[in-house]
Amino acid sequence: MPTNVEEGFATKAIHAGQDPKQWKHGSVVPPLILSTTFEQDAPGAHRGYEYGRSGNPSRTCLETCLAALENGKHGLVFSSGLGTMTGLMTLLESGDHIVCGDDVYGGTNRFFQRCMPKQNIKASFVDACNTKEFLAAVKPNTKMIWIESPTNPLLKLADIKAITEQIKATRPDIYVVVDNTFVTCYFQKPLDLGADIVMYSLTKYMNGHSDVIMGAAITKRDDIADMLRFSQNAMGIVSSPFDCALVNRSLKTLELRMQQHSKNGLAIAKFLESHPLVTKVLHPYLPSHPQHELALRQMSGHSGMVSFYHTGNSAKFLKSLRIFTLAESLGGYESLAELPSVMTHSSVPEDERNKLGINDQLIRLSVGLETEQDLIADLDQALKASTQ
Ligand SMILES: Cc1ncc(COP(=O)(O)O)c(C=O)c1O
Repeated sequence: MPTNVEEGFATKAIHAGQDPKQWKHGSVVPPLILSTTFEQDAPGAHRGYEYGRSGNPSRTCLETCLAALENGKHGLVFSSGLGTMTGLMTLLESGDHIVCGDDVYGGTNRFFQRCMPKQNIKASFVDACNTKEFLAAVKPNTKMIWIESPTNPLLKLADIKAITEQIKATRPDIYVVVDNTFVTCYFQKPLDLGADIVMYSLTKYMNGHSDVIMGAAITKRDDIADMLRFSQNAMGIVSSPFDCALVNRSLKTLELRMQQHSKNGLAIAKFLESHPLVTKVLHPYLPSHPQHELALRQMSGHSGMVSFYHTGNSAKFLKSLRIFTLAESLGGYESLAELPSVMTHSSVPEDERNKLGINDQLIRLSVGLETEQDLIADLDQALKASTQ
């Protein structure tokens, strides 16, 4: 392709890092290289790879593709989303402080509340919807801002551009990290909005087939990439070549999958909003969402994540579902339903859950790629069963 033509998202997903000419055999699908070690021409003279922990060609393919999709420069994959967080913490030092949104994945909350204080790194949890309040929590020793948008499970939004512009105007030394797991780079590009680092649980939509645990960090900054590349190897937080090949394969259909997740998710959100047993539906693309205008400005669409409050018995509802599976995780082709208060967010202290509204009437759905009418019929019969 001529270099002056800007490539579209799907073109990048299918071709970035995958040029068959880079392999002598011309394999169109990138080869899966399992070898843990690589021949050297002379001691210390290798051909780009020496040992599987420090680098692997299958991993490079995926990392190159991720950087291209995100409009970044460097992509780095880690053993999981939380493994990525472990890597990112090596940008900080003992005594540093983090400002984090108050509604984030339960494991993120647990990581900051239970793991990092042992390294003398503390976090404040503040409502990231309120830019002013969020930034007021910045202290002289704050070194990182952690934004999840949309949030898990309440689907609240943070104004990434406003937060980043304001923080960078006075404190360019603070790293702005955005967890983009819920909508992916197909619908939202935090680096273009000024963030320093985008992080993922690739386990979710990016892989999309519920068969790999993996995470990633993408950045435009060489200094950040150098540190993360060092930590990836030195701390051993790496992914297997096989898993890298699976995620790379999955990225080829990311655009199509996200379009269908989005369509099914919005149809279900609208159905639930009209249901007599549902009291509130949380979905950024519903006009009733308090930050609907920001959603339209900041994202080009929303995924299949929908949360809602209902009046029935949640255990009965979840047990009555026939197509939706009662399970944690999200972003796969199959529809899942869960109760955040006792599942994904049970590690969030109870008083914080209550303050946020993560109670036993809140259901979180990951709407998959099944036929829309079947999913709606399933939810309808389970809602009815939940009151019997
Ligand atoms: C928004 C978000 N970030 C991070 C994670 C952690 O990722 P992983 O489970 O791959 O470690 C999750 C997992 O559910 C998540 O939902």
